[in-house]
Amino acid sequence: MKRSGGTELQKRLAGEHAADAVSDGDVVGLGTGSTAAAAIRALGRRVDSGLDVRAIPTSYQSRALARETGIPLTSLDEATPDVAIDGADQIAGLDRPTPPVLIKGGGAAHTSEKLVDSAADRFLVVADPTKLTDRLDAAVPIAVLPDAVPVLERRLSALGGDPTLRAAERKDGPVVTDNGNLVIDCAFGPIDDPGSLATELSGFPGVVEHGLFVGLADGVYVGTDDGVNTYRP
Ligand code: A5P
Repeated sequence: MKRSGGTELQKRLAGEHAADAVSDGDVVGLGTGSTAAAAIRALGRRVDSGLDVRAIPTSYQSRALARETGIPLTSLDEATPDVAIDGADQIAGLDRPTPPVLIKGGGAAHTSEKLVDSAADRFLVVADPTKLTDRLDAAVPIAVLPDAVPVLERRLSALGGDPTLRAAERKDGPVVTDNGNLVIDCAFGPIDDPGSLATELSGFPGVVEHGLFVGLADGVYVGTDDGVNTYRP
């Protein structure tokens, strides 16, 4: 799966901007990926300076980074996130008054990300300019029950998709998610109606979660070489 082509500076600026949107006392959902990591590091610096927050991570990686940077952790058992900060693989619709549509799951963390991001009062997306597109057209990551792979490959092909089971690197066989699921990356070409496709994918037995995030984002911070562009639906 293609990952971010943005620069460290762009990600750091987006991450710092989102961390600055966190208030004292907030419970913060921590996304996964390199841009979310920049936000976690920035939040850790604010905690060092006395900010009182608790965080809910969305992956092994974001939990480890939160620990390393001294951010106290909690869970969905204990608290509801006031704000979630998370990256994206593609973002479309920033020119429209409705919430933007996202593709997530490049790091195979989209199941927990969607749970935490959608539970938050505010979901802020952090990104670099390479993530912006007029129309979503990247392969959609779909976390699936391991037993469901052959059935879903057939169903996705019948839907016009081109499914590929995500292979692990430095391990033989497929990627296994933090939750023990496998990931099918399914290319559909340009996606004209992400909402309908999202509903269709959610209806397939064996699909745990797909990476189309429709109607969830409350704000998008795009780091550039000169600053941050902010979008709010
Ligand atoms: C994790 O599964 C993804 O949803 C990430 O949020 C997404 O891949 C963005 O990662 P980068 O910020 O590293 O591009």
